[in-house]
Amino acid sequence: MDRRELLRLILMSSAAATVMPTKAFGNVLKYNSMSKLDFGPDFKWGVATASYQIEGAHSIDGKGASIWDTFTHEKGKIKNGHNGDVSCDFYHNYLEDIAILKSLNMKVFRFSASWSRVLPNGTGTVNQKGIDFYHKIIDACLENGIEPWMTIYHWDLPQALQDKGGWVNRDVIQWFSEYAELLTKNFGSKVKNWMVLNEPMSFTALGYLIGYHAPGKRGFKNFLPAVHHTAYCQAEGARIIRKNVPDAQIGTTFSCSHVEPWKDEKRDGKAMERWDVLLNRLFIEPALGMGYPVESLPVLKGIKKYVQKGDMEKLKFDFDFIGVQNYTREVIKKNGLIPFIKGMEVSPKDRDAKEITEMNWEVYPEGIYKIIKQFAAYKGVNKIYITENGAAFPDVVANNAVKDFQRVDYYQRYLEQVLRAKNEGINIAGYFSWTLLDNFEWSEGFKPRFGLVHVDFETQKRTIKESGLWFREFLK
Ligand code: NOJ
Repeated sequence: MDRRELLRLILMSSAAATVMPTKAFGNVLKYNSMSKLDFGPDFKWGVATASYQIEGAHSIDGKGASIWDTFTHEKGKIKNGHNGDVSCDFYHNYLEDIAILKSLNMKVFRFSASWSRVLPNGTGTVNQKGIDFYHKIIDACLENGIEPWMTIYHWDLPQALQDKGGWVNRDVIQWFSEYAELLTKNFGSKVKNWMVLNEPMSFTALGYLIGYHAPGKRGFKNFLPAVHHTAYCQAEGARIIRKNVPDAQIGTTFSCSHVEPWKDEKRDGKAMERWDVLLNRLFIEPALGMGYPVESLPVLKGIKKYVQKGDMEKLKFDFDFIGVQNYTREVIKKNGLIPFIKGMEVSPKDRDAKEITEMNWEVYPEGIYKIIKQFAAYKGVNKIYITENGAAFPDVVANNAVKDFQRVDYYQRYLEQVLRAKNEGINIAGYFSWTLLDNFEWSEGFKPRFGLVHVDFETQKRTIKESGLWFREFLK
């Protein structure tokens, strides 16, 4: 059956028979000719999620506070005063949500553990109820033919550890090791795919450089030590997985965006290189044994102060795969007023980008192709999973349906570019959509909806969006 016909049938079979594209989104009926088979029989399809964003249950069954519990309860930190206290209440709804995931024909559930749910004080006493919760999720996945992929750290540091300095304190290497030991020893017999960190650049820069995310710290005096200790934990966590789960596939994930100069190749190009370091190179290069990319961003030289003898060796790990997480591209313009990096991102609106998401990110499908190429070019990167990709649009529920055609289109066009890279010989082994459920989008609160499934946060009702239905058909 041709895809256009398929879409027509899906539309007709859904509750609202009168389907009008939302907004002026005209090309909704344009289906590309791509098929799941083009990606090969072993290609893994799934969704990615994160503990704080979906779980809720922030203070029950023995869970300790995380930096996000603290930060969201401070006035003025999060848009509309939102917080993740309840969010999608995945803690109580996980069975329904995993059943929905199965119904979408997805075979991978990527999730993270909440450190303070299993170790309320960050170290020491273990909260058995927290361990039991993750066993229940893992078992529900396995019973439904879904592979559980666990991320050790997706940004929710225990507050007790932040009180001692968090990622700025070198002791975090010990704390993180204890946590990684706990997870791998408890879940290693069932979980065979592990990711150490989620987007280290995001949580160090947003949380310890510009203070936009928890724990709200600022400045290079916080950022540089946080970077070094994070890069150390990235490899140390992987060594612990290898030791405790010898048959595991071990990866870690990176936020990354293809960067381009604004106008003048020469002038803006230099600024672009500095942004490239920050956005794309800072954490992968030390893992590959290349050290920190200080040449291209001299302010990083300050990191030396935190590097002890033997550390540079310890930053290396031979990862089985890396996770590429991409949403958009960045266009960079020189700006001498901005300290150290001396350049700024030109916002999509200012450069008249045609398609912009609710996050104010440009829809630029070719960006994922270009960034995959950039990462695949590193010697030592042998396998790539797209561990996150997706888009937030202003969804509307009507007649029990969400006609998010723009998102369907986004996924199709990004997937085409993933396929393009794969067909050029890059070993891309899977693709995980961000994300299953609408959820708590950090400092943006609940407004940006990224889910394949709409969540009514008042009633906890789930409604599979058109994009979810599209995946269901595509993956059939
Ligand atoms: C990056 C993060 O890993 C995730 O937590 C976030 O919600 C999405 N991308 C979208 O911003």
